[in-house]
Amino acid sequence: AVDRAIRPKRLADYIGQPALKEQMEIFIHAAKGRGEALDHVLIFGPPGLGKTTLANILANEMGVNIRHTSGPVLEKAGDLAALLTNLEQGDVLFIDEIHRLSAVVEESLYPAMEDYQIDIMIGEGPAARSIKLDLPPFTLVGATTRAGLLTSPLRDRFGIVQRLEFYSVEDLTRIVERSARILGLTMHHDGAVEVARRSRGTPRIANRLLRRVRDYAEVKSDGHVTAEVAAKALEMLKVDQVGFDPLDRKLLKVMIDMFDGGPVGLDSLAAAISEERGTIEDVLEPYLIQQGYIMRTPRGRVATRMAYLHFGLEAPRAAAPSE
Ligand code: ADE
Repeated sequence: AVDRAIRPKRLADYIGQPALKEQMEIFIHAAKGRGEALDHVLIFGPPGLGKTTLANILANEMGVNIRHTSGPVLEKAGDLAALLTNLEQGDVLFIDEIHRLSAVVEESLYPAMEDYQIDIMIGEGPAARSIKLDLPPFTLVGATTRAGLLTSPLRDRFGIVQRLEFYSVEDLTRIVERSARILGLTMHHDGAVEVARRSRGTPRIANRLLRRVRDYAEVKSDGHVTAEVAAKALEMLKVDQVGFDPLDRKLLKVMIDMFDGGPVGLDSLAAAISEERGTIEDVLEPYLIQQGYIMRTPRGRVATRMAYLHFGLEAPRAAAPSE
């Protein structure tokens, strides 16, 4: 419930992603002016950057209902048809993890997106036939961690494609201060900066750390979050100066210690840290790559000089320069 209180409901309250906000404001305004449904929107980006939040905001700004589902949940074409036929004019259908749709469900989505029509199979065997059903104009909002995971016929059917970027420390500071205000927490500006700096560019992490810092401040101090209290709490949480958690550090250390800094293949890395390769690709490495600690090369992942420096190690001569 608290989570819902923290999520912004209006585009005006959505912090950061300035290019996306400017564009979406215009597209929403134009669609509303014409009395049409907003064109289908694909949102991609690493977990925790606000894809679901944004989908909710789009529906709210358009003044329509939103239905949530996800790729793996839609097992049969009928599951999708049931959702689509219950939509009202202009409604948003949000499909999270849309890259995980089965091929049949995905194909049944094409005419729905393109012509607001679905084919429904009636009966079985030789007597089976399909009938076309008209749908009200609606907006499909799809979310995925990587646009590259989508088939191109699906990707091409989205009129609006938005990529969420990691947030700057300044934007995360504003998000933390806003959340602290909603939680009724006394937060010093320096305390918010401390949390923001260590949140891996990710609002979901910032809000999670904020709650744990609040716990710490209430039990170990007077409940006020100063920079010092925040720093101590984050140290206890094993989140280091640049926001890496134990798993980030394990990944970098394994690259350095076991694979001489790489290049090392994703599967070898996954085995070495006992994680799935999908977790490395979607959750761990995007931020480490963006920050210049890891490079992706055709022969595998490479730890950069920055990675060595992070552990106080001297980088080998051959180590990839950071940038
Ligand atoms: N919470 C999660 N993402 C947010 C954002 N972009 N702005 C404000 N609060 C948020």
